[in-house]
Amino acid sequence: MQTIPIFNTHINPNAFELVKETLYGTFLSEGNIVKKFEEQLNKQLGLINITTLNSGTSALHLALDLANVKEGDEVICPAQTFVASALVIIQQRAKPVFADIDYETGNISVTSIKNKITPKTKAIMAVHWGGYPCDMDEINAIAKENNLIVIEDAAHALGAIYKNKPVGTISDYTCFSFQAIKHLTTGDGGAITVKSNQKYKEAVTKRWFGIDRENAAPSELGERMYDIKQLGYKYHLNNYAAALGIANLTDFKIRMERRLKIAKLYDEKLTNISGIKLFNYKFDRRSAYWLYGMHVEKRLDFIRALKEKGITASVIHQRIDRNNVFGGMCNDLQNQAKFEETQIHIPIHDAVNEDAAEYIIDSIKQGW
Ligand SMILES: Cc1ncc(COP(=O)(O)O)c(C=O)c1O
Repeated sequence: MQTIPIFNTHINPNAFELVKETLYGTFLSEGNIVKKFEEQLNKQLGLINITTLNSGTSALHLALDLANVKEGDEVICPAQTFVASALVIIQQRAKPVFADIDYETGNISVTSIKNKITPKTKAIMAVHWGGYPCDMDEINAIAKENNLIVIEDAAHALGAIYKNKPVGTISDYTCFSFQAIKHLTTGDGGAITVKSNQKYKEAVTKRWFGIDRENAAPSELGERMYDIKQLGYKYHLNNYAAALGIANLTDFKIRMERRLKIAKLYDEKLTNISGIKLFNYKFDRRSAYWLYGMHVEKRLDFIRALKEKGITASVIHQRIDRNNVFGGMCNDLQNQAKFEETQIHIPIHDAVNEDAAEYIIDSIKQGW
């Protein structure tokens, strides 16, 4: 019997040599290899002003800091996400205001965003659930009308495309995660892309304590001369993590194409199955397919039936507003409540080839 987990960690074979070289080089912290990784991310994915960081959570927090979100402000975000998205809002002493989602995709609902705006709203955080881009034109239009900042939580969406534009080039700030089970991993890591050149420079400085390294060379005494003007953080990426990232980038595009093929296979062969409602994706954008989600009736039976066949199907991220730290469950999120009852994800990753996908499809067709 095959065993197919819900996630895997992909390490390109070249990584072993590249990481080894970095370790032998003994410059482990942020240096030239991080710079090279950033250049390659920009070039290969058509991004601009990227700053790599030690996690996606750091990227989200830095985005809020750069956006000047502070005590008393409200940030509108979905509850269908990982806790990181809203914990960083609290870290800034601001308030997460949970908007409803579209049941068909898991993404934040444009109508609900409009209803949640108050005089205290400072920013909108749109999470591209599973890698499928949110309605960014509409969200950016609402933001413009109301003088709000837009932060994209693209932890799942590296490589996604929205109306011919790579995710990471659309809004004020876009945040990526390179955590272990993401489709591009550096072990742990993340990145932020920033629209404004000035804010980009601020991001680079703030990721390392707020020290402007380029203009703070060591003096003859040996110590850097600097004056920190703004609060900074220890959020930089390390050279050895970047080496892993560079190696994993080499076949990223090919792997994404394979993922798309598997998604297409699922789309074609899992339609019209009683008890399954596939997510409804638009043709003007392309998901990064970090996840392949659907709605399933009797989902515990579904999970058990697939488990018998060695396949892990799973609920991914329960609504986060349930956590007391955010003030407790919101009762006005109707689609979210429905989504919570039926969402299920099936494996889509580097270890799922076409044969494995066919096996998963056949196993589902046998019923639950
Ligand atoms: C939607 C979302 N945002 C943010 C994060 C945080 O990313 P990281 O684990 O790199 O800090 C995650 C983590 O998986 C996530 O799923």
